[in-house]
Formats: sequence, C-alpha cells, structure tokens
Amino acid sequence: MLGYYDIILRYFLSKMDAEKAHEFVKKIAKFKLPTRSNFDKLNIRIKNIELKNPLALAAGFDKDAEMITFLSSLGFGYITAGSVLLRPNRGNPKPRIIRYPGYKSMTNSMGLPSVGVEKFLSNLKKQRKFSRLSISIAGNTIEEIVKLYNLVADHADFIEINLSCPNTENGRLFQDKENFDKLSLELSKVKRKITFVKVSPSIGKKEIENHLDIASLCMKRNIDGITAVNTLPIKDAKLSTKQGGLSGKMLFSWMLKTVRLLYEETNGKLLINACGGIFTAEDAIKAMMNGASTFQIYTSFVYEGISLPNKILKGINQFINYNKFSNLNEVIGYKIK
Ligand SMILES: Cc1cc2nc3c(=O)[nH]c(=O)nc-3n(C[C@H](O)[C@H](O)[C@H](O)COP(=O)(O)O)c2cc1C
Repeated sequence: MLGYYDIILRYFLSKMDAEKAHEFVKKIAKFKLPTRSNFDKLNIRIKNIELKNPLALAAGFDKDAEMITFLSSLGFGYITAGSVLLRPNRGNPKPRIIRYPGYKSMTNSMGLPSVGVEKFLSNLKKQRKFSRLSISIAGNTIEEIVKLYNLVADHADFIEINLSCPNTENGRLFQDKENFDKLSLELSKVKRKITFVKVSPSIGKKEIENHLDIASLCMKRNIDGITAVNTLPIKDAKLSTKQGGLSGKMLFSWMLKTVRLLYEETNGKLLINACGGIFTAEDAIKAMMNGASTFQIYTSFVYEGISLPNKILKGINQFINYNKFSNLNEVIGYKIK
C-alpha cells in the first residue's frame, strides 16, 4: 500500500521544481508512518550506540529539524538533521537545485540555508524520534563551530561536522590541514559525543594527501570517524551561482575510492560513514566491504521515494543470510582485511 502511494507521490514531485517539491514534502511529512523494518542481523554497534541498522539519511534533507517524526519512522538506523548554523542564513539565490533524472544525479548550490541553531532546537523539541539522531553542524570560525557543538551535543547521538560544503565562501576552509589541526584541537577539549567530520570526494593526488592528513589528525585528536563524501564541485549554467555540488549515482565511484583509501590507510581504526550515490543494497554492501560501518543516502531517497530504506535493508539482510555471514561486522572491510 505504501509503495502505491509512493509511486503516485513521486510522479507528481518529479514534475515540480526541485525546491518546490521539497517544500511540499515538508508540509505533508508531519506524521509517523506505520513501517516495519526489523531485520535481525542488521543491528550494529557504533562505539556505545546501538543502531537497528547501518542506513542513515544524509545531511541537508532536513536542514531545520522539521521532519524527524516522519523521517525516523521510515526504517533508517539514524537520521542526520542539519547542517545547522549558529545564526540564520538564507543561502544562495534560486535556482539552486538542478536534477539530472537520466543520470539519477543532481547538482545543488544551496549555500547552507539554515534557520539558525535556536529555531532548529525549538523545532527539534516538537519532534518524536523513532531512530537515532545525528546533527550536522557548519561554521566559518573555530569559535562558531565549538559553540554550536556545545549547543547541540546533548540533543544527538552523533555529531557530524561539515568541513566540505562546496557552495559557500568558507565551506571548505577547515578541510585545510593547518586549519583542521587547530579546529580538531579545540574540538577535542569539548567533545562528548561520537563525532564525525565530513569530507569532499578525493579525486586527485593533492586531495588524497589532504584526506590522509585529516584522517591522522582525527586519530590523534580522538575524533571517531569520517563521513565520506560530500558533493563534488561542478559547473552548471542553470544554477544562479553557475556552479554547485554533484550528488547521486555519478558520485558513487569516487565515494567508494575515498572510503577504501581511508579504511586502508587507517587500518580500520576510524569509523567510516559512506555517503554518495548509494541507491541499492548492492551499492551499500560494496561500501561496507570497502570499509564503511554505516552509510547515508540523500539523492536516491529523492528519486526512489519513501519505500527505498526498506528495500535496501531487505536486500542487505538477504545477502547476509545467503552468504552465511553471522553479522554485519564480518562484512565491514571484507575485501581488504
Ligand atoms: C540539496 C542538497 C543539500 C545538501 N545539504 C547538505 C548540508 O546541509 N550539509 C551536508 O553536510 N551535506 C549536504 N548535502 C550533501 C549530502 O549530505 C550528501 O553528502 C551528498 O548529496 C552525496 O550523497 P548522495 O549521492 O546520496 O546524495 C546536500 C545535498 C543536496 C543534494
């Protein structure tokens, strides 16, 4: 029944402008859906947090924490809310999302619109949670990021720090080694939740070296893991800003390469959250075999709709049973260990 409504809804949403479709979803996504998604072998422990499964919704879909009740009832192991900023921000002018349906990809230049942390937390208080919660934060200075961390930490199971937004002037400032050294030092003084940093895809030699520097600083400063990856900077003349970040299927191979690199180079000592172009159980299994403990989706959720989480989880469960793995931990890094 859910699948039937999902198909009709997706048809209408695909005919609308991308941001108008998202606003429409926000208006109707107010309630809990009666979904069933308990798969016995998919539960996984991330340090001291028990997840019912490794699938998460990525940052940016519920930037202002307005749809947690609805989204967390769809079967996800956790939902990422945000990225939230310290103060309200309007983001870039529209149009700022362009879909490429033939490629199951899209480019956005949102520029981190946010209602600001005060309103974000008041929205969050009105929501019910049926899964774990991660809060993504972003800021222009160390002081801002540390202040935000302190304000949101008690409201979430995980904190994700967005170091890699391609659509704001300072969005990737803290991916620079020297800047991240200073930021990670300050974070280590206040850190009290499982904390991830989110990086861009590693494409060239310079980025690969940079990611390895970030990874070793994470280990040094006791930051738990890395979310790999954010969108890939790309041009699109239809965006008001003429450039944005590419997400979806076209990002998958770069995501996989980044996950594998980080896992191999850290000997599995950092948690890795795979994010980028995951559409199917097969994609998710590949990400986990290359070293990810958990994985996040965004663009596939937009294209495939609300029955997707259940479809992916069912597929992974079947794989585990068919191949006689006893649990997910045996799958993580399987190709590399
Ligand atoms: C419209 C849009 C808005 C996004 N906003 C954020 C954001 O606020 N913070 C963040 O860390 N990532 C943001 N992202 C990036 C996603 O979280 C994710 O890293 C990226 O889309 C790759 O995953 P996917 O291929 O499954 O979409 C955004 C992506 C899209 C498409």
